[in-house]
Amino acid sequence: MQRGLFITFEGADGCGKTTQIKLLDEYLRSCGKSTLLTREPGAKGLGVKLREILLNYDGEVSPNCESFLFLADRAQHVDCIIKPAINEGKIVLCDRHTDSTVAYQGYGRGIDINRIKILNEIAVNGLTPDLTLIFDIDIETSLSRVGQEKDRMESAGVDFFNRVRNGYLEIAKQEPDRVKIINASDTIENIHNKVLELIKKL
Ligand SMILES: Nc1ncnc2c1ncn2[C@@H]1O[C@H](COP(=O)(O)OP(=O)(O)OP(=O)(O)O)[C@@H](O)[C@H]1O
Ligand SMILES: [Mg+2]
Repeated sequence: MQRGLFITFEGADGCGKTTQIKLLDEYLRSCGKSTLLTREPGAKGLGVKLREILLNYDGEVSPNCESFLFLADRAQHVDCIIKPAINEGKIVLCDRHTDSTVAYQGYGRGIDINRIKILNEIAVNGLTPDLTLIFDIDIETSLSRVGQEKDRMESAGVDFFNRVRNGYLEIAKQEPDRVKIINASDTIENIHNKVLELIKKL
């Protein structure tokens, strides 16, 4: 069977990843494609328990511990969900993946970027996205979209999110073939059309 595709959606909280990934999934299904819409952290099973800790645990969580919990979730997700679906020929759309750990725990929390990259490599075991879309927007706007009820990660503050945003822009500079930046301050429909333009090139 022909290998499927692996496309990841990235960007700071509230930039519009989940909105756009759902629109792309609907579009691809309407074209008769077989897709898997999934997310990190916490796609299903064990991952859901890890997500609960990562987003809602209200005690101290060290940056290293936080990284390992995200990576544990990723390893399980890649081995048990993403790779099998790609091998079945599906187009896998994933809401956050390796670049989130580089941007948040690396650029955001200050863990050495190269260390995060090595740990990511161990977690994904040879898998690389065919395409990564980063939705870029100023942090004040994206956080205002998230609203008042913020989870543990969303409560980290504007300076943290500016570092995350700059981290994403740096990733895009380093890997221009895999990673494309989309201006996320446009309308939902215009952004969707931009996503389709990039997908059709694949
Ligand atoms: N282009 C847009 N213009 C205005 N509002 C938007 C746009 N895209 C998404 N929104 C709204 O902003 C909010 C956040 O969007 P969404 O949940 O898609 O972001 P996200 O990147 O998935 O956030 P998170 O990282 O917190 O999961 C939602 O209420 C959504 O309807
Ligand atoms: Mg989301």
